[in-house]
Amino acid sequence: MLPTLTLAALTLTTSPPSHAQTHPAAVTAGGAVGARAYVLPDPLYPTLGQPGLDVQHYDVRLTVPAPGTPDLRSDTTLSVRADRDLNDVRLDYSGPRVLNVTWNGQPVPYRHTTGQDITPDKLIVQRALPAGRDARIRVTAAGPAGGVPDPTLNITLGWQSVPATPTQPGANFTFSEPDGTHSLIPCNDHPSDPATFTTTLTFPRGVTAVASGSRLTDRAHLNGTHSVTFTLTTPVPTYALGIGVGTLDTAARPAVETAGQRVTLTDYFPTSVPDTIRAPYARTGDILTTLSGWFGPYPFGTYGSVVVTPDLPALETATLSTMPVRSSRERVIVHEIAHQWFGNAVPLASWTDTWLNEGFATYAELLWTQAQGQDTAPLLRGWRDRLRPGTRPLTATTRTQMFDATAYARGALALHALRTQVGDDAFRTFLHTYTRTRAGQPTRPQDLLHLTRTVLGPQAADLLNTWITQPDLP
Ligand code: TRP
Ligand code: ZN
Repeated sequence: MLPTLTLAALTLTTSPPSHAQTHPAAVTAGGAVGARAYVLPDPLYPTLGQPGLDVQHYDVRLTVPAPGTPDLRSDTTLSVRADRDLNDVRLDYSGPRVLNVTWNGQPVPYRHTTGQDITPDKLIVQRALPAGRDARIRVTAAGPAGGVPDPTLNITLGWQSVPATPTQPGANFTFSEPDGTHSLIPCNDHPSDPATFTTTLTFPRGVTAVASGSRLTDRAHLNGTHSVTFTLTTPVPTYALGIGVGTLDTAARPAVETAGQRVTLTDYFPTSVPDTIRAPYARTGDILTTLSGWFGPYPFGTYGSVVVTPDLPALETATLSTMPVRSSRERVIVHEIAHQWFGNAVPLASWTDTWLNEGFATYAELLWTQAQGQDTAPLLRGWRDRLRPGTRPLTATTRTQMFDATAYARGALALHALRTQVGDDAFRTFLHTYTRTRAGQPTRPQDLLHLTRTVLGPQAADLLNTWITQPDLP
């Protein structure tokens, strides 16, 4: 039993290109000796993130003077800590022009490099941060924030501007997976450094603005602007920061209890969006309750969707999924809710492992279908059909593979194979244990395999490993 597994773990450990190393951090947030695992440089995004930098909290203040335009003012304070001696702090940043940078309240020299892919977009804060030390770095900036075109993913990431039309006022929102958040604020833009967020948005009266987290304050200013503050106390990866600004209707729904925890529910719809688009969101509470039965307690205190009009994929922004009008279907709603556990609460250690997010979120679609008493065979057949043109081992080796059919459909089929082998009770225990033990911990497939072996035994780990590594569909 053991030899297969040892071999499997070895294969996975050595799979990233040789320039990538897994760095165990010396100190965790709690001060205990531990290991925050990460794979930096990331094999697929080698410029993102700074090894040894741990951002614990982002205090983000954004002013959106004219929704629908890219104009922005930002004031961001990062609470950072070093896991090892750093000569300087190198934040990812390609946003509006930097006006000022301070370090614990004092001005500090900085350099902003901008480039195309090989020259990274970095805000280099020129002060050393010794291992175990904290600092507060505050950056103010102003100007137009453009999304970052990603030619490989065929999408524009980051701050989105939806210009006003004769029938619809302007809007803005974030769409950042994998690396769009640094088009908005300076950050350690890699999923292996999850952090908590406080987001304050200032905008013209008559507009509604929402962000990831629970609403703390809401106030009107004498100059006709309005400010709201949201706080997210569970760490999430930077790409999961969600913001929506526009002329929105607010739909408050009855709160639900998941594993004894109260979750408030609110959805936001552009006023132009018809009832047929809004209808499926009424199932949100039931979906949350059903999925928490399988996955364990919902990781946040609030949830909802912000519907947006451009034709983009849906995105699981933390506590506030970003849902295009075209994706306003029950299955997509289920998928994004599942990501709140898988991807947001349990973050990736490397962009090569997106299947860990997409596989679980896709499998949630089956769990929901089944809970509705509906036939799951069409879903399973659909996943197999999607892989008919070809598949690959689950680890992505190119950026295009991050969101391909294998990441979604093969990832889901792997979990189904595991469940079929071990039975529902053991599978549920396995899922609960995974979300409980990996929350806030950057996770790699070998962590999942390790847990599979511990909770379900070597045969189950063997099966999962076959699904992860075998070139053809098992
Ligand atoms: N994570 C998203 C989902 O499946 C999908 C997604 C995010 C995506 N960013 C992307 C798909 C970029 C294609 C390109 O819910
Ligand atoms: Zn997904």
